[in-house]
Amino acid sequence: MPDNATPSLAKRLVCALKIEGTLKEKRPVHAFGWGAKGEFLPSAVAKNYCRAFHFNLARRDDGSLVTYPVTLRFSNGSGEAKQRDSWSDVRGMAARFHDPQDDTRATDLIAMTLPEFFNATPEGFAAFAQAAKSAPCRAQTPWEKLRDMLHLIQPMPDPYPGQTRRPDEGAIRYADKDARAQLAVLQAATIGVPQSYLQASYHAVHTFRVTGFGGTNNVRFEWRPVDGVRPHDPDLTPEPGSPPVDPDDFLVPDLKNRLKNSAAGPHVRSRPMRFSLMMTIGETGDDFNDPSRPWPPRRKRVFMGMLTVNEACDTEKVSFNPGLLTDGVAASDDAILWTRIEAYRYSSEQRGGTPCPFAEGQ
Ligand code: HEM
Repeated sequence: MPDNATPSLAKRLVCALKIEGTLKEKRPVHAFGWGAKGEFLPSAVAKNYCRAFHFNLARRDDGSLVTYPVTLRFSNGSGEAKQRDSWSDVRGMAARFHDPQDDTRATDLIAMTLPEFFNATPEGFAAFAQAAKSAPCRAQTPWEKLRDMLHLIQPMPDPYPGQTRRPDEGAIRYADKDARAQLAVLQAATIGVPQSYLQASYHAVHTFRVTGFGGTNNVRFEWRPVDGVRPHDPDLTPEPGSPPVDPDDFLVPDLKNRLKNSAAGPHVRSRPMRFSLMMTIGETGDDFNDPSRPWPPRRKRVFMGMLTVNEACDTEKVSFNPGLLTDGVAASDDAILWTRIEAYRYSSEQRGGTPCPFAEGQ
């Protein structure tokens, strides 16, 4: 574990992230979420790169391909007490792969729609979290917007109707002083809203060390939706059979509707409920321990398998943890990743989550 990833800092971060007045049993961030079950089919090449159980393409005695059960939670990044699906926000996708041969074995992959993180160090992220606390906001006057544009500064977006507080102003002020935060803050400020949780790409952000027949590689994982990435269009005519759109709460109804259509059988037109798991292989010179920095675009990318989302399930008490890894996948020396391991454990305790049954001895 890197020296600067201390348990006390992790706990302090959890307390700093929790918004006053929100329910104790809710997560301090990603408070609103929805659970699902799915199955993962590894690609034919996945096991060459990684010997982890869920990348092993195998056949059963009857010749059918083994798929790996997956527990999922999709979420909105905010920890605010009120759910606001149509407000711009980072979205999350937490996945736990289970080994059907060994029910004591599982591994987590936690990802979000932001491709890079806000900082490279836990101390830096603590300072950022403090600066970016939700604070009162207002619409800029036309003159203020003009002044910003003349100074080549992007004017702040107008608050949504009913929005009186937001983290944006503090985050931008912080990024003006700390260049490391600029990329993620800019991306977060313009991230918008997906049409569906199933139409967004999710990035695991950190580097992991994966080992397979060909040796060990430093890699980053990303989920790509088979249905394509699509921003939310509030004027879009809803599909037949879909419930009336509530702007505060349409992402979960969309998922439930898609699941219902896909379960109804092939006579009902249903949209693909699948994600490709892509793995990018880092090269010498890439930063393996800094989740705030992108790698150059021309890196080798490998298709590791396909996830199909199948049915709804309750995962509010589940405790995902980015440190729940299995043989073949190891954490890099990224101090943010190591800090998260303790932070998620502590947060789960605080909110009365079910302790992770797979994390014994970690
Ligand atoms: C030091 C940095 C970070 C801290 C302190 C932090 C803290 C937390 C905490 C306390 C939770 C609630 C955990 C629970 O109660 O079960 C959480 C949830 C979450 N975080 Fe982070 N986080 C950090 C970085 C990240 C990064 C880099 C990602 C993206 C890969 C991420 C994505 C998520 C997601 C998707 C959830 C929801 C998980 C679920 O559905 O259970 N976080 N985070």
